[in-house]
Amino acid sequence: MQEPVRVLVTGANGQLASELRELAAAHSRLNVDFAGRDRLPVTDEAMIQQHFQAFRPDYCINTAAYTAVDKAEEPGEAEIAAATNATAVGALARASAAYGAKLIHISTDYVFDGTASIPYKPGDATHPLSVYGATKLKGEQLAQQYTDAVVIRTAWVYSSFGKNFVKTMMRLMQERPAINVVNDQFGAPTYARDLANAILDIIAAARWVPGTYHYTNEGVISWYDFATAIKEAIHSPCIVSPIPSEAYPTPAKRPAYSVLDTTLIKEIYKVRTPYWLDSLTECIKILTR
Ligand SMILES: NC(=O)c1ccc[n+]([C@@H]2O[C@H](COP(=O)([O-])OP(=O)(O)OC[C@H]3O[C@@H](n4cnc5c(N)ncnc54)[C@H](OP(=O)(O)O)[C@@H]3O)[C@@H](O)[C@H]2O)c1
Repeated sequence: MQEPVRVLVTGANGQLASELRELAAAHSRLNVDFAGRDRLPVTDEAMIQQHFQAFRPDYCINTAAYTAVDKAEEPGEAEIAAATNATAVGALARASAAYGAKLIHISTDYVFDGTASIPYKPGDATHPLSVYGATKLKGEQLAQQYTDAVVIRTAWVYSSFGKNFVKTMMRLMQERPAINVVNDQFGAPTYARDLANAILDIIAAARWVPGTYHYTNEGVISWYDFATAIKEAIHSPCIVSPIPSEAYPTPAKRPAYSVLDTTLIKEIYKVRTPYWLDSLTECIKILTR
């Protein structure tokens, strides 16, 4: 009989980790330890070392992150964001190196400034516009400094779990007769379930190729297009109007164009990147059943 593959998932109560939990149940070869903040606060390096020593993971999937993009701009928050998104990743990478685990770390399209007009490739120059983006970039660098990590940048993540744009829009469309949504920021959404499937494919793959990769669903849309598709999927009478970003100022500056080129991850790991509307339809089916 084959040895089980031991996988540690940090940030166990987040969107991506919740999708991983559902999907991993069907993989009998995987022995997965889903560790939330209560059992494994990633900002505590001593606890990380103890956890690795006790569980001896073959893989560590780091989904833990400070993801409150606007809150990160508030006084005192940058330090918490940096501790979670950067320093903690260094600690996880050191533990991975010490105990022979492969680290899969998740990062973001917000490492880019959005001035491009063609999809960003993994090697393109980074230039984060926000505290969140800067701390995530530092985290990527620390992951790669200490171990042979796979870093996956993703974008516009939603799921039937947790808080996200899709669930917020569905609620607002029930509460309000009309809403405004920005139509000058372009990207590709990512159904966390698709990303979770891709991560499990990477673990099952015959070869491990460290490096930086991009993963999103297929397509390029604005937040307004996304909201319009949600409205149509739930048959809402709510009026959705397009507005420019200046009309909806936020504390954190966001890239105007953050489409990620997913060619490399598809070539190397043969993962699927479903079309964004198909995945949205699937998620909304779960949310409305
Ligand atoms: N959401 C997006 O739109 C988006 C876009 C691009 C990239 N990403 C990246 O994708 C990854 C997964 O995101 P997600 O949407 O699944 O995030 P999420 O739903 O916000 O989940 C993140 C989890 O990390 C946990 N966490 C925060 N600080 C922690 C700490 N000190 N110790 C342990 N756990 C801690 C949180 O715990 P609590 O529940 O206790 O707070 C939460 O459960 C992250 O790396 C994120 O940066 C997300």
